[in-house]
Amino acid sequence: MLDSGVSQAHISGKNFSMNNDMKQCIEKLLSGERLTREEFCLLIQERTKETASKIAEEARRRKQAVYGDSIFLRGIVEFSNVCKNDCYYCGIRKSNEHVRRYRLSKEEILQCCRAGYEIGMRTFVLQSGEDGAYTDSVLEEIIRGIKKEFPDCAVTLSLGERDKDSYQRLYDAGADRYLLRHETADPEHYRKLHPEYMSFEHRMHCLYELREIGYDVGAGMMVGSPYQTERELAEDLYFIQDFRPEMCGIGPFIPHRDTPFRDQPAGTLEMTLFLLSVIRLIEPEVLLPATTALGTIDPRGREKGVLAGANVIMPNLSPVRVRHQYELYDNKICMDDEAGQCGACIELRMRTVGSRIAVDRGDIRRDGFRSGILCRKKLE
Ligand code: 5AD
Ligand code: FES
Repeated sequence: MLDSGVSQAHISGKNFSMNNDMKQCIEKLLSGERLTREEFCLLIQERTKETASKIAEEARRRKQAVYGDSIFLRGIVEFSNVCKNDCYYCGIRKSNEHVRRYRLSKEEILQCCRAGYEIGMRTFVLQSGEDGAYTDSVLEEIIRGIKKEFPDCAVTLSLGERDKDSYQRLYDAGADRYLLRHETADPEHYRKLHPEYMSFEHRMHCLYELREIGYDVGAGMMVGSPYQTERELAEDLYFIQDFRPEMCGIGPFIPHRDTPFRDQPAGTLEMTLFLLSVIRLIEPEVLLPATTALGTIDPRGREKGVLAGANVIMPNLSPVRVRHQYELYDNKICMDDEAGQCGACIELRMRTVGSRIAVDRGDIRRDGFRSGILCRKKLE
């Protein structure tokens, strides 16, 4: 009798203090205060359905206050699947001999942009593996070509790690934004996802260089990548809070059959949605995509992402004949849909969650406290 009374008191005491810590974390998050790594960790570990839905509701409200009900489209042109890297998670890693490698010409890339423009896209994302055939001068030509034909559009690059001089030349040629997911903010975790010759420090260095040049920069990570725990995710959130990327791409890890991670479990919908909401609250102006990977693990994943605080969708503009060769993970969606089909599909999907597609470049709102800021911390 006495025993049970004591343990009950102990349990409720413990619960009380846990809830209190959690409550404090949520209050800090909602009031725009910085959280420590430990607080981010607690937030992730102690999340419940109820806290996730409260945070999602607040994230939606913040998004609405900054961007209204607009969803911005980014048309992705996957122009080359040749890659010199060998990331353990990625389907187009150089060791995968089952992939037929392809490269698109400037004219083919422009064709993709035309199809995207027709359906209201005003940002084109040029994405590829790290392919040395696309030298600075080849890329400058392509960027200038797009800018000339579509002066009202933004060009986003997603070409991996290059040197600063190269980033500068591409920026001078007219590129506006650059996506380079940091993949993980923990150096030890980074080593478990990449071969030895790839460097965490170099990747981070690139992000700071891009920022310095003047690009709008996108960071991001996979959710549920192998060896990731709440601690690594907390580190990611802490990095995002520090670096303040203009864009943040997060989606679930999904295993690919021809990679060393083929038997690893995929990341979850629930955790991805939770993190989307937390990131929206850390950085209310951030441009946050509901990724294709999210749409792959759940048929309404992208809609759910929008309800969790995302405000960007990135439909595929690559020619259908090469899409199957750009499979970063298994069962990627929209493999056979032409631009027009995707456009109509996305339009309808967004309407079901009270959002509408904006025919707009979808630049980051800078009128608030962001104007003129650089990151808070700089790596040497
Ligand atoms: N599952 C989910 N996302 C992946 N990416 C690469 N491979 C996978 C995978 N198996 C993501 C990486 C990369 C982006 C282009 O795609 O985060 O930066
Ligand atoms: Fe491509 Fe639905 S978004 S078919």
